[in-house]
Amino acid sequence: MQSRAKHFALQMQQRRSVRFYANEDVPRELIELAIQTASTAPSGAHKQPWTFVAIRNQNLKEKIREAVEAEELETYTKRMPQEWRAALEPIGTDYIKEHITDAPWIVILFKQKTGLNGEKHYYVTESASIAAGFFIAALHNMGLATLTHTPNPMKILAQLLERPSNEEAMLLFPIGYPRTDCLVPNLTRKLLEQVAVFHE
Ligand SMILES: Cc1cc2nc3c(=O)[nH]c(=O)nc-3n(C[C@H](O)[C@H](O)[C@H](O)COP(=O)(O)O)c2cc1C
Repeated sequence: MQSRAKHFALQMQQRRSVRFYANEDVPRELIELAIQTASTAPSGAHKQPWTFVAIRNQNLKEKIREAVEAEELETYTKRMPQEWRAALEPIGTDYIKEHITDAPWIVILFKQKTGLNGEKHYYVTESASIAAGFFIAALHNMGLATLTHTPNPMKILAQLLERPSNEEAMLLFPIGYPRTDCLVPNLTRKLLEQVAVFHE
């Protein structure tokens, strides 16, 4: 058990968010497997309140990028408070979102606020977020890279993808292989004692 746990911890330690993608294709089957893995996540009252919309169509990706960049430009220049801007500074992000058109796939995770016919859903954000975590881990385990992107605001995604009104976009994931010249911010992660408290 220890050896499997250590192996998994080390593997996950090597995951990084990737913002620059090669245009090499990824088979649809791998995307399906990642979504199937995500869908094993626990969820409030087992309602599985999520829809993963997978997009390889280049025209659609271009439309999404255009709409997202228009919103992000407003956000970065007008909506973002100074404190938030400062927190993003070391990560180096801006309103240009080339990953949306460069990555072979983008997957947009929608949370289902209710069922399609108004059926009650429980702990929707928590459940969909756990599914997102499983999704990211599944992709990483396959050797694929992704980024957790939160375009702000996201209403435009539901409109472009013609999603029903019970769904709300939560996260956008570009998926593919890192570009050979891809760099990632030089981050460190908190130590165990900074994130855990034990009472034995
Ligand atoms: C909820 C959430 C929202 C995020 N939104 C964005 C985003 O909009 N754009 C972006 O470039 N990165 C985004 N990130 C990625 C974080 O910046 C990244 O996970 C963090 O810097 C740690 O880097 P790592 O994932 O390589 O460990 C987001 C991450 C999370 C969990």
